[in-house]
Amino acid sequence: MKQSMCIVGCGGYARIVLDDIYDMTDEFDFYFASRDIDKARQYSEDYGGAGYFGDYEEAAADPRVQSMYFFTPHDMHLDNVNLAARHGKHVLMEKPIARTVAEASAMVESARDGGIKLMIAENYRFLNTVDRAMEIMNAEGAENPIGDLRLIEMVVEGFSSPGEWRANLDRNGGGVFIDGGIHFVDIVVNVGGFPELVHAIQPPQLYPNVEGEDGILVTAALPGGAACVINFSRAIPVQSLRQVVKFTGSKGRISFDPRASELTIDTPDGQSTVEVQAVRRGVRGMVSEFRRSIEENREPVMSGYEGTKDLAVVLAAYESMRTGESVRLSLPER
Ligand SMILES: NC(=O)c1ccc[n+]([C@@H]2O[C@H](COP(=O)([O-])OP(=O)(O)OC[C@H]3O[C@@H](n4cnc5c(N)ncnc54)[C@H](OP(=O)(O)O)[C@@H]3O)[C@@H](O)[C@H]2O)c1
Repeated sequence: MKQSMCIVGCGGYARIVLDDIYDMTDEFDFYFASRDIDKARQYSEDYGGAGYFGDYEEAAADPRVQSMYFFTPHDMHLDNVNLAARHGKHVLMEKPIARTVAEASAMVESARDGGIKLMIAENYRFLNTVDRAMEIMNAEGAENPIGDLRLIEMVVEGFSSPGEWRANLDRNGGGVFIDGGIHFVDIVVNVGGFPELVHAIQPPQLYPNVEGEDGILVTAALPGGAACVINFSRAIPVQSLRQVVKFTGSKGRISFDPRASELTIDTPDGQSTVEVQAVRRGVRGMVSEFRRSIEENREPVMSGYEGTKDLAVVLAAYESMRTGESVRLSLPER
């Protein structure tokens, strides 16, 4: 059944997502809320909105609004969920869930107390490339050219200095790893399981104005014995953003750009490719899942708890980076 969702925070990424979802009008009526009513009106006009608000609380209180999709800075996320929960509105919250596990747990509890769904908008859970790679790696016998998973490697390199609230350690909750890097942590947790041990170091900082790290190297020990290495940086002087994910098994290797439409399989016998339907950012599948979780009254796939797990890995990497010690992890409490 069709639902109504209010887009809250009319900033940069909201536009990017709306370009992908605005025409899902058989699933949603979209409303818009901004602290600036002119911005909300503009977004509503641009994307065929059903209405707009110049105040988040006003949107939360409006009976026409069933859910709120927050595109706000990370230090706002807890307050945002508390607001929605007070008004009984379901929440789709942009990643990362929060800046600390304590904040994340408070959000999960607030949603539970308010009887609302809380889903984290981790769009990398909804990419066909990752799903197809997992299918191939989980296939039986000869159908599986990869074998037992031994190594996950990721290189994500771009050249863009975080600005505004993202350059502020407290508001962002860290540097680039809690922001863009958490997507790749989500792939690791999704595919390889929750890491048992994490170690991280930081290459020399390139951007002096950024309080958090502008790049990080993370290694992790995964359950079942596989190893993981992530090189995530926004300070590599290359022309355009590159994302490479590789899963190496006992028989072969699968590698891909998560946003692309092709997987490459290497084995000692040669190389082959597997086509998948590209879903750009995966946000259409993501908001559909959010809608269905409300309709079916169940936990969404990317629940608040799943978001907390991703965050816990990021924060363990930060602790390791700070102390120079490896950090042993245990699953966050439910
Ligand atoms: N999944 C992804 O790939 C992806 C990519 C980029 C960003 N994100 C996430 O999306 C969220 C928003 O990021 P963004 O890039 O859209 O940021 P942004 O361009 O700075 O927009 C954030 C919006 O939050 C609202 N806001 C509320 N209180 C604010 C405050 N005190 N200071 C500044 N803004 C405030 C503002 O909207 P109003 O003025 O309209 O109220 C602002 O436009 C973050 O959680 C970020 O991590 C996800």
